[in-house]
Amino acid sequence: MKVVESIAQWKALRPRLTRSLGLVPTMGYLHEGHLSLVRRARAENEVVVVWIFVNPKQFGKGEDFQTYPRDAEADLRALEALDTDYVLSPGVDDVYPPGFQTTVSVAVLSKPLEGVSRPGHFDGVATVVAKMTCLTQPARAYFGQKDAQQTVVVRRMVEDLGMLTEIVVCPTIREPDGLAMSSRNAYLSPEERRAAAVLYRALQNAGRQYQAGERQGDALRGQMRAAIGAEPLATLEYAALVHPETLVELTSVDGPALALVAAQFGSTHLIDNLLIGEK
Ligand code: PAF
Repeated sequence: MKVVESIAQWKALRPRLTRSLGLVPTMGYLHEGHLSLVRRARAENEVVVVWIFVNPKQFGKGEDFQTYPRDAEADLRALEALDTDYVLSPGVDDVYPPGFQTTVSVAVLSKPLEGVSRPGHFDGVATVVAKMTCLTQPARAYFGQKDAQQTVVVRRMVEDLGMLTEIVVCPTIREPDGLAMSSRNAYLSPEERRAAAVLYRALQNAGRQYQAGERQGDALRGQMRAAIGAEPLATLEYAALVHPETLVELTSVDGPALALVAAQFGSTHLIDNLLIGEK
């Protein structure tokens, strides 16, 4: 495994990689969710590149850029064990050197849901994903379903800009109580950690209501709101039921539907989602 910390070094190396390349974009502090993406990339590509970069452009003012958890040594050990070929881990001034002035903005899909409480977040994501895609030119790039809106934004960007990369979305990996794995789970106190399992329970409730015949968007959203509202340590941000590609709220479910929830536990913002409805 080769760790590349400079973009100039990577640019010199990339033309020599002529076989199919799988890219796993991350901000480090890797957990089983990330590792599942690396395993899938390993199975489907000849060269596996893991991008590790805590991207300041996707953090808003007052968000956790400075304190975002980092553990480079543990990350490298885990990636080495999975037979990763390259870790590309540039510094902030290398990704955004003086004079950097380009932003990629996926106008409509970036606005609802996470875009409401985190304005500019998806511009930061789209810009860095565009840059890493240009640098690595992967055949495939691997993202987790947990960040559902991110996958929708990235797919749109890749389509709109004619990038030749296939976006592969992999299932959410969960803790035994259902909590979706996230680097931010590390912030939770033991009480908040226990309470956070309510997000998946709320989604499952909605899924069960759907299975039992409920088709009204408001009823399903109400079900999720009530479940999260009943957890004293959770402050609900949204409970939504949208079309999985347009992210438009559904009045009734008669095709594919994506249920999404977000809540604060103390100062930690957590999200989760579940696909319901017929494909
Ligand atoms: O999902 C993430 O960790 C980040 O948003 C990504 C895709 C690596 C971009 O910084």
